[in-house]
Order: sequence, then structure tokens, then C-alpha cells
Amino acid sequence: MSCIHLKPGVTDLGTVAVRGGREPDPTTGAIIAPIVQSATYVQRGVGLDLGHTYSRCSNPTVDGLERALGALEDSPAAVCYSSGLAAVHALLLSTLSAGEHVIVSDVVYGGTYRLLTEVLARFGVSASFVDTADAGAVAGAIRPTTRLILIETPANPTLKLTDVAAVVAVARRAGVLLAVDNTFLTPVGLRPLDLGADVSVYSTTKYIDGHNTSIGGALVSRDEGLLEKFRFIRKTVGSIQAPHDAWLTLRGLTTLPLRLRRHSESAQVVAEWLEGRDEVERVLYPGLASFPQAELAARQHALHAGIIAFELRGGEGAGRTLMNSVRLCALAESLGSAETLITHPATMTHGSIPRASRQAAGISDGLVRLSVGLENPGDIIADLEQALGAVTQADRPRFAAAQEGVLA
Ligand SMILES: Cc1ncc(COP(=O)(O)O)c(C=O)c1O
Repeated sequence: MSCIHLKPGVTDLGTVAVRGGREPDPTTGAIIAPIVQSATYVQRGVGLDLGHTYSRCSNPTVDGLERALGALEDSPAAVCYSSGLAAVHALLLSTLSAGEHVIVSDVVYGGTYRLLTEVLARFGVSASFVDTADAGAVAGAIRPTTRLILIETPANPTLKLTDVAAVVAVARRAGVLLAVDNTFLTPVGLRPLDLGADVSVYSTTKYIDGHNTSIGGALVSRDEGLLEKFRFIRKTVGSIQAPHDAWLTLRGLTTLPLRLRRHSESAQVVAEWLEGRDEVERVLYPGLASFPQAELAARQHALHAGIIAFELRGGEGAGRTLMNSVRLCALAESLGSAETLITHPATMTHGSIPRASRQAAGISDGLVRLSVGLENPGDIIADLEQALGAVTQADRPRFAAAQEGVLA
């Protein structure tokens, strides 16, 4: 049986997620490829290897995940890393040298910000954090030394969107590469390479694994030259994904389209419910008519996935009470898993960004991020309802004042 690749115009990712890039094990016929837990590979003679030499460079189990991820974007095999941040790191090391410049979305995962400002800055790479929702601002930030634009859409944690096609046009005019961190939507919700981007970036830890069982990252591209650079950096810094983690990620990927659909449907229900609550100041979810970029979301996304951001009228204190009062939702970092996770970006995922920069990017101290899981949405709502009850109980005078419009 040969590997299945998505043909142009074929949109059934359900089939590709189950079968794309898969082959039965050639030695046993096992339909699920085994975990090849081996550091090295015996060669038939000097220079006569069987395709693998050492598992820091490549591994058959990791290869299997890479073929499947590539198939999801109708691309050659992806390059997989030990974490999403290792993938971002490999992208930056592959495309930038000392004295060169990268434009990055102003709302971005905190680890990406920290890597650029606290590590790569010491090696002479400069970064401008720009509102990439404004393609004109991106064009204005291009310098003669700019080599890469890295956008995150929807951005973590405010869900601000970037119009990928508009930034593709800017990147093409300037002759610079464009990479899209597509962790929040996965290829099921958005296919950046089809829109003209050069690289899709993933933390596979999130939706692609989907079960909170592995840490991993991937770079997907249709440019063989770039893929070669990504593999070179990986073997040079030693950041390949472990075979067992790759195997778990591949198993998760098999049900990605099914899960994403359920995450999206449930998040829509939960977001609409939150929007109707008096205790809630504002809700950000791309599927809501009130979402500031609802038109772009409808045009750009096949679905909106399961992440919601919201703020309570009682501000940070109320947000903390809510997060400390949930029972079914788990207070934890990460997103995209079967379990509903609730996160406080200001102290957790985005704590490494200075407060002033966080505030400028709309990441207020009271912002709550909810990753709607695969539980029954009614149960998620019931949990949030009892936690909101704790908020009003704890903060009754302030809440009453807010309702009367005394507090802004
Ligand atoms: C958008 C985005 N990119 C990259 C990462 C880093 O991924 P990892 O935690 O797998 O290193 C994260 C982690 O939350 C993320 O949300």
C-alpha cells in the first residue's frame, strides 16, 4: 500500500488524518508502525546504511509522524522536534544570522517572545513585535536586514487574527520568508501553505497530540531547501522528538479532524453562554458575531477550534476566584487537550512578557483563557456557573457596583 497524500482540491482531511503518510510495517505487516526505540543502526558496510544512522538525525517512528503531518498539508514530510518551542527555535536558527531582523506578531506565545528577547538578541538577531493584523504595519516594519515574518494566528492568548494572504503579499514584495504558527487551528482549521506561506509551525503538544501525553513540535513546508535547513539545525542542536512521543503524537493525529470539530462546536456553545452572563465583561471567540475580526475569521478559518478568552467585570481578583473555584475544568498551562483547561496567561503562559508589553498587547491581568475540551459542553457550563457563583459570593459589593455601572 502506498502513502496517501492529499490531492489539490480534495478536502477530506478525515481520510488523510487516518491514512495519510501511513504504511504497514514492512517486516511484520503491522497496521500501526512500531516504536523504534533504538539510538543507533547497524550498517551493512561502511557508507551502507539502511536509511538511518543515529536517532539524533532521524528515526523511523519520527519519520512516520513526519509523513503523516506533511500529508495533512499536501507537503513533503514535516520535520519534528522535541517541543513546539524547539521547532520555533529551529525556524529562527535556520533563517536568521547575526545582524538580521525578524518581524513577529505583537501578541505571541510567551516562550517565543522570551527566546527572541532574552536569548537570540544576545547573538545579534533583532526582533520587532508588530501588530500583524495590520498588513501596512508589517510592510512599514520591513528593514533591509529583515529575513523572516513570523505570525501567530489566532494569537495566544487574545485570539487576535492576522490576514495570512495580506501578509503573504507583503512578504513576497519584500522577498522575505513567512512562517505561520498554526498551533491554535491546525491544518484542519487553516492551511497556511495553501495561502502562500512558506512554513507552518506547530506545537504538536496541543491539538495534534490532543491527549496531554507528549511534548512536541513540527515545521511543515513545501520548500525542500528549507526542510533540509530545518533537519540540519535539528541534528546540530540535538532537538529531534523522542520516538515514543512521536508515536503518541501520530496516534493523536489520527482523530484530529473529529476532535477539532467537537472542540469547535462546544466552544461556540460555551462562548455564547459566557457572553450572556452578567459577570462577564467581554468574550473573545472567532465564532461570535461580536468578535472584532469576525469577517476575517469566517473567511480564513474552516473552523475556529476550542480556545476562548474572556474577562470578568470584577477584573483580576474575580478572574483568580473563578480559576480557583472550577472543579471540572483544570487550572493548568497548555491547551488543545481532551480535558478542558483554564489558564491565567498573565502569571502562567505569558509571565515572561513584561507587564507593560502584555497590557499593550491586550493581555490584561484579568484575562482568562479557556481551552474547551471534549467533555459534554453542558458539564463545562455547569462548572463555570458554579465557579461564577463563587465569584459573586466573594466579591458581592464590587459586583453589585459594577452592575450599577459605578465601576468601569
Ligand atoms: C502558539 C504556540 N506556539 C508554540 C508553543 C510552544 O509549544 P511547546 O509548549 O510544545 O514547546 C506554544 C505553547 O503553548 C503555543 O501556544
